[in-house]
Amino acid sequence: MSALICGSMAFDTVMVFPSRFRDHILADKIHMLNVSFVVPEMRRNFGGCAGNIAYSLKLLGGEGEIMATVGHDFEPYRLWLEQWGLKLRYLREIASEYTAQAYIVTDREHNQINAFHPGAMNHSHLNSVPAGAGISIGIIAPDGREGMLQHAAQFAALAIPFIFDPGHNLPLFGGPELKEFVRLASWIAVNDYEGQLLEDRTGMKHEEIANSVKALIVTRGSTGSTIFTGGQRIEIPAAPVAVVNDPTGCGDAYRAGLIHGLMRGYDWHTTGRIASLLGAITVESHGTQSHRFTQDQFRHRYRQAFGADLP
Ligand SMILES: Nc1ncnc2c1ncn2[C@@H]1O[C@H](COP(=O)(O)OP(=O)(O)OP(=O)(O)O)[C@@H](O)[C@H]1O
Ligand SMILES: [Mg+2]
Repeated sequence: MSALICGSMAFDTVMVFPSRFRDHILADKIHMLNVSFVVPEMRRNFGGCAGNIAYSLKLLGGEGEIMATVGHDFEPYRLWLEQWGLKLRYLREIASEYTAQAYIVTDREHNQINAFHPGAMNHSHLNSVPAGAGISIGIIAPDGREGMLQHAAQFAALAIPFIFDPGHNLPLFGGPELKEFVRLASWIAVNDYEGQLLEDRTGMKHEEIANSVKALIVTRGSTGSTIFTGGQRIEIPAAPVAVVNDPTGCGDAYRAGLIHGLMRGYDWHTTGRIASLLGAITVESHGTQSHRFTQDQFRHRYRQAFGADLP
């Protein structure tokens, strides 16, 4: 049995401007902005929510397959995923498009200017959740809007339980659409900001949302996360980190932990801690797929972080 991970596949180009944007953007000239930043430091990372989740799930020893649309420039990313032994039969190439890509310029005060080109991602609805393919669980991570809607309906029609993970795409959906996702999903995972927006748009409080799914998981960065399930509220501590190098991607890594715990049938205390530890490990390295560990190292770190053994 495997997990079907629906979501974006993207290249992330991160450039570091070693000065301050505010010294170059003049407030009284903001209506005719024309700035250029020299960025001596640049990294190009493999990213996108589906790729990030699948990568971390693979490190944990879980079985997951990505369902996504990619562009004509995807080859280096494909080779990377193959090197990690990921099966790629549900990746569809859209030859006329680029793979989704984010261009991120940060300054030394951690301000960011981002541009995101969705490219092939906006064709995600051309893929459909396959029937009879041994899929026991799904996740709908940020992806093309139409694809997210259709994949939720397809998972439900096939009676495959799935996690709804709207992420930064949550604002694309109105109240009725979000209520439909809540109705179809088995689990919902959001960060605290997205959780607030979900409450505002659906008019449903966390407790009410939690009552219509198996669990609502709300993450709060370095202060941990809360799992609302069965009328209970389970607090999951954040795991200690050696250094915070790059917080991007911790949400995706956390979701890989959720999928792994759910597939193994662990209780929520354990599942939440696996997710939390993965999130912590990811913030220690630059990029969203550059952390490494063996399963023994993960067990060791789990014991160190939480004072208990992984089952
Ligand atoms: N600095 C940190 N130290 C320890 N754990 C962290 C830290 N930042 C994040 N985590 C873990 O990762 C989880 C998810 O983080 P967060 O709530 O920031 O997600 P997010 O906002 O969706 O992130 P992103 O979308 O940028 O990946 C947290 O609940 C926590 O368990
Ligand atoms: Mg997130």
